[in-house]
Amino acid sequence: MTSTRAYGYTDTLEAEHYAKALRADIRGGLTGTPKSTAPTWFYDARGSELFEEITQLPEYPLWRAELGLLRRHAKDVAARTGARSMVELGSGSSTKSKLLIEALGAAGLNYVPVDVSADALQGASAQLVQDYPGIRLHALRADFTAPLVLPSLPDDEPRLIAFLGSTLGNFRRPARGPFLRGLRDIMRREDFLLIGADLVKPEHEMIAAYDDEQGVTAEFNKNLLHVLNHELNADFDPDAFDHVAVWNSTESHIEMRLRSRVDQLVKIRELDLPVHFALGEEWITERSAKFTTDGLHAEMAEAGLRPQQLWSDPDAGFTLTLATIR
Ligand code: SAH
Ligand code: AVI
Repeated sequence: MTSTRAYGYTDTLEAEHYAKALRADIRGGLTGTPKSTAPTWFYDARGSELFEEITQLPEYPLWRAELGLLRRHAKDVAARTGARSMVELGSGSSTKSKLLIEALGAAGLNYVPVDVSADALQGASAQLVQDYPGIRLHALRADFTAPLVLPSLPDDEPRLIAFLGSTLGNFRRPARGPFLRGLRDIMRREDFLLIGADLVKPEHEMIAAYDDEQGVTAEFNKNLLHVLNHELNADFDPDAFDHVAVWNSTESHIEMRLRSRVDQLVKIRELDLPVHFALGEEWITERSAKFTTDGLHAEMAEAGLRPQQLWSDPDAGFTLTLATIR
C-alpha cells in the first residue's frame, strides 16, 4: 500500500498479516512451557514512547554509548562505505540514524527505515523529510524476522544496512544465524552492514538496565498486556503481574519476564483461549543477548559476513562493527 505522504511508504504488514503473526505467536507462546513470546508486540504507540524514555534512563547507558560512538565515527563509516543508500532495521525514532544521514550527506541519500511500528515509522519519517530537504525517504513497515523485500534502490552505488541499538540481541542464538545469513543474502559485494552490540558486563549493571528505579522498563514490559487486551480482546490485569529481569548466563542474555502475582485464568477472546497462570509462574517476554566481540564476529563469519572495522566504547561495553561479504 503506497500513499501520498512527503515520503514513500510501504506497509507489508497490512492488518491481516500483523494480526495473523500476533495470534500465532501468542497462541504458541502462551500454550508452551515456559510461556514465552516475541518482543515484537511491545511497540504500539505507547510502547515506542516508553522505549524512548528507557533510552534516557541512567541505568540504560547502552543507547547513549552507541550515540557517542556514532558521534565519533559516523564520518569514518561514511568514508569507508561511500554509501548513497541506507537501509535501517528496527529504526524506531531514527534519532541516532541522523548522525549517519548527516555523515553520508542527506541530499540525494536513499534512506529506508524499516520498522514494525507504524507510529514510530511515520513520526520519524515526517520529521526527517522536514529536517533534511533532498533526502529520498522510503519507509517500510515490515517484520525483519521475515525475508525483507526492499524498495528499489540504485544498482550502481554501495548500500549500508544499519542494525543499531543491539536489537540483534533480541534474537535468540539459534535464530541469529539464519537472520544474519538472510542479511548476507541481500547484500552485494560493494555493500556494508553496521551492527551495534551491547557487551557482557557485570551482572548487576545488566540487570539494572532492565529493572530501573523509576519503573519505566516495568511499564514497557506490562505494555504488552495492554497491547494484547486491545488487539486480542484479552482481559489481562497488569496489576496481577510483576516485572522481573533475570540474567541467563547459559544463553548470555537478559530475560524480561512477567511473574503472575496470583493463580489466575486469563481469557484471550480473539483466540478463544483461556490461559492459566499459576501463582509465581513466569512468562518470558523478551530476551536481550549480551555479546563478546569475538563471539559476535564468529557468528557473523559463520553467516558469511566479514567484519572490516570495529569501534568500541570500552567503558560502556558497546561496539559497532562494520562488515562486508567480501
Ligand atoms: N534502533 C532504534 C530503536 C530500537 S527499539 C534505537 O536504537 O534507538 C527496537 C525497534 O525495533 C522498535 O522501533 C521496534 O518497533 C522495532 N522492532 C521490533 N521487532 C521488530 C520486528 N520483528 N520487525 C521490525 N521492527 C521491529
Ligand atoms: C530494542 N532492544 C534492543 C531493547 C533491548 O535492550 O533489548 C529493548 C528493551 N527492552 C527493555 N529495555 C529495552
